Amino acid sequence: MNEFIIITDVGPRDGLQNQPRILEIDERLSLIAALAAAGIASIEVGSFVSPKAVPAMAGTDRLFDLLPKGDKVDYTALIPNSKGYQLARDAGVRSVNMVLYASEGMAQKNVKMSMREAQQITAEILARSRADGMAVIATVAVAFACPIDGPIDPAVVREAVARFMALGADRIVLADTIGAANPMQVRQLTHDLVSEHGASRLGCHFHDTRAMGMANVFAAVESGIRYFDASIAGLGGCPFAPGASGNVATEDVAMMLDQMGFNTGVDLDALLRASDLAQQLTGTAPGGRAKAWLQPWLQKKAG
Ligand code: COA
Ligand code: ZN
Repeated sequence: MNEFIIITDVGPRDGLQNQPRILEIDERLSLIAALAAAGIASIEVGSFVSPKAVPAMAGTDRLFDLLPKGDKVDYTALIPNSKGYQLARDAGVRSVNMVLYASEGMAQKNVKMSMREAQQITAEILARSRADGMAVIATVAVAFACPIDGPIDPAVVREAVARFMALGADRIVLADTIGAANPMQVRQLTHDLVSEHGASRLGCHFHDTRAMGMANVFAAVESGIRYFDASIAGLGGCPFAPGASGNVATEDVAMMLDQMGFNTGVDLDALLRASDLAQQLTGTAPGGRAKAWLQPWLQKKAG
C-alpha cells in the first residue's frame, strides 16, 4: 500500500502546556530535535498565547529562532487570536494553527470570545496570510463534545468546515479536545466531511481520555483521513478543558499505521528515544503502549 499519513506531533504544545513542570527553552528544543530526528514530518512547536494564561508556552518566539533552518520538518505554532498571529509572523513562523470552537462555552472559557468572533478573526487571518506566505490550519476544538455545553451537533462542525474550506484554509482539523468521541461518531462525521470536501485538507486530533483514542484514529483512517495530531509519550491535557487527558501517543499511532502498511516516514526506534526523553523531561508523560512491545523487539533486531 505505502500510502502516506502525516503525523503532527503536538506534544511540545498540547503536551507541555499542561505539565506541573515548566520546561526550559533548551529542554523544549531538545524534545523537538528528538522528534525531528525520528522523521516526524510536522511538529507543533508551541503557542503564541498570553504567558499569564499559559506560562509553559512563554518564549515560543525564542524557540522558533533556535530551530534548525532548512530541514524538511513543517514547524507550526498554535495561535488564539490576531495578536498571536502577529507575534508568530514576527518570529518567522511559516505555519499557524488557529483555534475555532464548536461550542460557545469552550470559546468563552478558552479565549473569552464567541464562536462567531473566533471565526471572524480566523477569516481575517486567512485573508492576510497569503501576502505573508503563511500557511493556516484551522482546528475546530470540542468538535464532538464540550465539557461545558455537552454533546455537539455535527451540523455545527460541518458548517464551520464548509466555511473555512471555501475560505481556503490549508487544513481543517477536528479536535476531540476532551477525548469524548466514540469511533462510530468519528466514522460518521469524517465520512460526511470527506464525501463533501475530499480528504486532502482534513485532519483529526484525538485525546485518549477513555481509551478510545486509537479506535477513533482507525475510524478516521477508514474514512480517508490522512493527517493526524498525536503527542509523544501521550503527553497532554488541556488546562482549559476539565477532564481532558493526553493526546493519543505518537508512538502508538505510528506503530499502528506502520503495521497497517501506511508510510509515516517515522523511524520507530528513534521515536521511542524521543518518548523516553519526553518522560524524563516532564516526569509525568505516561508513555505509549507501543513502547513495551517495541523496545525488546528493536533491541533484538539491533543486537
Ligand atoms: N499572545 C501573547 N499575549 C497576548 C495574546 C497572545 N496571543 N493575546 C492577548 N495577549 C495579552 C494582551 O496583550 C494583554 O496583555 P497585558 O495584560 O500585558 O496588557 C493580556 O494578554 C490580556 O489581553 P486580553 O485581550 O484582555 O485577553 P484576555 O484576558 O481576554 O485573554 C487570551 C484572552 C486569548 C489572550 C488568553 O486567554 C490566552 O492566551 N489563552 C490561551 C488559551 C490556550 O492556549 N488554550 C490552549 C489551546 S486550545
Ligand atoms: Zn488537544
